[in-house]
Amino acid sequence: MKTIDLRSDTVTQPTPAMREAMMEAELGDDVFGDDPTVNALQARIAQVLGFEAGLFLPTATQSNLVALMSHCQRGDEYIVGQMAHTYRWEAGGAAVLGSIQPQPLEHQPDGTLKLADIEAAIKPDDPHFARSRLLCLENTLHGKVIPQSYLEAATGLVRRRGLSTHLDGARLFNAAVGAGLPAREIAKFFDSVTVCFSKGLGCPAGAALVGSQDFIARARRWRKMAGGTMRQAGVLAGAALYALEHHVQRLAEDHAKARRLAEGLQGLPGVTVEAPQTNMVFVDLAPEKAQGAVERLKQRGLLCTGLYRMRFVTHLDVSHDDIERAVAILREAL
Ligand SMILES: Cc1ncc(COP(=O)(O)O)c(C=O)c1O
Repeated sequence: MKTIDLRSDTVTQPTPAMREAMMEAELGDDVFGDDPTVNALQARIAQVLGFEAGLFLPTATQSNLVALMSHCQRGDEYIVGQMAHTYRWEAGGAAVLGSIQPQPLEHQPDGTLKLADIEAAIKPDDPHFARSRLLCLENTLHGKVIPQSYLEAATGLVRRRGLSTHLDGARLFNAAVGAGLPAREIAKFFDSVTVCFSKGLGCPAGAALVGSQDFIARARRWRKMAGGTMRQAGVLAGAALYALEHHVQRLAEDHAKARRLAEGLQGLPGVTVEAPQTNMVFVDLAPEKAQGAVERLKQRGLLCTGLYRMRFVTHLDVSHDDIERAVAILREAL
């Protein structure tokens, strides 16, 4: 029986049509700026998100790092959520490699950071303090779509105080489909945005950073220093171009699968399911059920993560039937 892998939307395999697009991609040496497929992808993603320029990078982690380093100088500070990927899950890269001090803030239940907390975290221009330089938000954050009115208010607030803004939009297209908006309507509040192709969009690797021409020129230098400038990278950019064309609207199916999974777990004693907004289902278990739960599911052929809470992520490679089987396994094991 096939294992149902709901650990992350990063586990997908490229589809046959995506592989064909990769095989057919025209290639060149991107260090010389000669790869036509990379160039086409960079232009396309900038256009889709409403920015002057784009840059293709191997991972979203590197895209975020390069973005932070392009916004901030050594000794600057960026304001960020405690649970944000750039702060918590990127090995402290901004501090270690960028000499950028993070100022983490607690999240509200909807994933936002209180405007008053952001305002209070902005330091006066005084030699005692690091220079507050940037606000970094994430959308989706743990599967939650951050409200548009909040994005407008938070970015407006920091902009008035002279800070720049970066969006870790690794799952921006999930947020866009979840909100029923074009992605550029979310991206428009920010000076720069990272998007990832190897999550819900189903590519084997690759991310992009978008921003102004000047910003991307700085980012290109940091990407080189970070070892992220690839050669015939069009083989990956071809997958990303294919995904932008064919895999964005279908994210709605992943969201429907997540809703079905959550619905299927209703009514189980000691199991609390958070209603999913996109492709992630978070489940809290009563202590007597939590012990060894991930392992019990694994033995039955269902993979998930359980670092903080149990997390189930739907994606391209799980069918509606797989979700029904997952519900049955969960109901039996929990
Ligand atoms: C919100 C968010 N940002 C950035 C990343 C980093 O992506 P990558 O694995 O491509 O470095 C992830 C990875 O899971 C993520 O969830």
